[in-house]
Amino acid sequence: MKLVTLLVLPFAAALASTAPFKGCQQKVKESIHGPPHRWYKHAPAPKHHMLELKIALPQPKFPELEQHLWEISDPSHARYGAYLSKQETEALMAPHPETLDIVNEWLALHGLAEEDVIHSSARDWVTIRVPVGLAEEMLDTTYHVYKHAETGESIVRTTSYSLPDILHHHIDLIQPTTMFARFKAFKSTMHWTNQAQPAVSIPPGATITGPAGNPVDASCNSTITLSCLRQLYNAENYKTTATNCNKLGLTGYLDQYVNNKDLQQFYQAQNPSAYGSDYTLVSINGGKNNQSYAAAGSEANLDTQFGFGLAWPTPGTFYTTGGEPHFIPDLMTPNNTNEPYSYWLDHVLSQDDIPQTISTSYGDDEQTVPYTYAIRVCAGMASLGARGVSLLFSSGDHGVGDGRANPASQRCKTNDGRNITTFLPMFPASCPYVTTVGGTVNIPETAASFSSGGFSNYFARPAYQEAAVSAYLAMLAPGTFEGLYNSTGRAFPDVAAQSESFSIIYQGQESLIAGTSCSSPTFAAFVSMLNDARINAQKTPLGFLNPFLYSIGYTALNDITDGNNPGCGTLGFNATVGWDPVTGYGTPNFEKLKDLVLAMP
Ligand SMILES: *[C@@H]1O[C@H](CO)[C@@H](O)[C@H](O)[C@H]1NC(C)=O
Ligand SMILES: *[C@@H]1O[C@H](CO)[C@@H](O)[C@H](O)[C@H]1NC(C)=O
Ligand SMILES: *[C@@H]1O[C@H](CO)[C@@H](O)[C@H](O)[C@H]1NC(C)=O
Ligand SMILES: *[C@@H]1O[C@H](CO)[C@@H](O)[C@H](O)[C@H]1NC(C)=O
Ligand SMILES: *[C@@H]1O[C@H](CO)[C@@H](O)[C@H](O)[C@H]1NC(C)=O
Ligand SMILES: *[C@@H]1O[C@H](CO)[C@@H](O)[C@H](O)[C@H]1NC(C)=O
Repeated sequence: MKLVTLLVLPFAAALASTAPFKGCQQKVKESIHGPPHRWYKHAPAPKHHMLELKIALPQPKFPELEQHLWEISDPSHARYGAYLSKQETEALMAPHPETLDIVNEWLALHGLAEEDVIHSSARDWVTIRVPVGLAEEMLDTTYHVYKHAETGESIVRTTSYSLPDILHHHIDLIQPTTMFARFKAFKSTMHWTNQAQPAVSIPPGATITGPAGNPVDASCNSTITLSCLRQLYNAENYKTTATNCNKLGLTGYLDQYVNNKDLQQFYQAQNPSAYGSDYTLVSINGGKNNQSYAAAGSEANLDTQFGFGLAWPTPGTFYTTGGEPHFIPDLMTPNNTNEPYSYWLDHVLSQDDIPQTISTSYGDDEQTVPYTYAIRVCAGMASLGARGVSLLFSSGDHGVGDGRANPASQRCKTNDGRNITTFLPMFPASCPYVTTVGGTVNIPETAASFSSGGFSNYFARPAYQEAAVSAYLAMLAPGTFEGLYNSTGRAFPDVAAQSESFSIIYQGQESLIAGTSCSSPTFAAFVSMLNDARINAQKTPLGFLNPFLYSIGYTALNDITDGNNPGCGTLGFNATVGWDPVTGYGTPNFEKLKDLVLAMP
């Protein structure tokens, strides 16, 4: 986050005229029916408790930015690869000057001086720190402490807030207000074990046939290692060399720390040449880096061991983003945001040099993320795409909803007051400007049953996937899952990769771990290798991948046609020939993909 003291209007001038707000009605800006499932109102929020409010200002030129994104990510377009600079994207994200003026006037009216206001690099987000009492006055609302019935965590939120009439079209959203999302790591612990499965039944040297038709160690059918992934995805002989330019980024939230001793022990076991190598640690919003064994994060360890381990010697960047969701009244902690993506986006978008490929293994049910917030965060992802960054996200570990074939749990209910059964799309997996990675298991590969997939209720189906998704929907028997999913929404995942029995080092021990948290860093590492190949051939990085994947890239993926993703009392969708909402277009065949991307401009 950068402190920008440039304001269009001198503050004295802003202070002088409070006229726009005279006699102005406060009108409800956003409200939700009630807190989502399992959150309950505990007590009124202490008036002195500090809130860090983030205010999103509209981006009137976003349609133009989006148009650039479609053109420069489409391999058949003349402008393919002509990514925008930081200055160019910022100009297309910037609010109207009039918006900055009127919002500043409103803040001044509530005693907030210029130096109390932090602007994002494009000035499309404004951050202020205010006590609950003042926030309640500004937003004509009452904050409460809400508790989570299952985890006991507490947050300070409200279910509705208002703004003066005249500000409604100058402010997109203010959070934390109605945001109850709990961004979870998608690492699934369901196959967690502290002992690798004994490979006694597998004779040494035994091989089986991999998806690319080449022989693969038979042990890869029960334990996934770096070597297994390179064999399975046909990248055994590729060495990355563009190490002075190419980078792979991995994000960490929720106090997930990479244990460096574990990482080195993993390298020793699975990629000895990487032993002793380091990565760049970037701390955002007070993100910590606790190296005690007890603080090792299994998610962070998995992501870095497999992501950096596969792409080595490509330099790695790990982002540790703070934003403790817990409410601790005694500490008056102001970092009670629980909406970490905007902090991460703020930081990354303010940088001149961004890793070309970035993987994230966190997300939540789309419906717990306020619509306005999801739209803005997704727009931030589009800005990164316009700058030539490939963003990969895990699709989620709950099938089409709660991961249960029968019966549906309370989770599969709409939280709009209707309380009806519904499939649960995940966010940011549902954002049309990112590439979502589902999960597979075994050889031959089948869909992992937990692999989340489905259709967004927030984002319409983008043109790039129109043909693929219509073809899938046309194959469904009429009336299938009617009312449970939104057939016009952005469908996910886009692609898939192995997601079970990954052999990691955690607190000094070899452990097996599962989840789409395995598949996203894996797919991202192969994308990073493709970028390596393109950079060496003096070509631009791949940028936003989906227009490429859905037009030609899919021909170099292994189509997964077995398995399904149960949830909400149903057996979920089936993996089928072609695209499907369980495994997308399938898993990578690196050599084939490399040939494709080197043949492109
Ligand atoms: C891999 O393991 C699965 C599950 O145990 C089994 O069904 C499949 O036959 C195995 N594949 C091969 C090639 O042996
Ligand atoms: C809160 O975030 C700020 C940066 O915005 C950071 O400097 C501070 O250390 C964080 N506080 C806590 C308690 O994490
Ligand atoms: C690091 O983590 C350990 C284990 O969770 C904890 O006991 C210790 O207080 C932490 N250290 C810091 C500086 O936060
Ligand atoms: C939704 O319906 C279930 C019963 O199906 C009930 O237990 C629950 O309290 C209802 N929730 C709301 C918010 O009405
Ligand atoms: C279905 O998705 C569309 C966007 O494609 C959205 O406009 C609509 O509100 C969604 N319907 C429901 C019931 O969420
Ligand atoms: C999935 O395949 C099974 C077996 O062919 C079939 O019975 C079922 O209807 C299919 N489900 C969907 C949602 O297409």
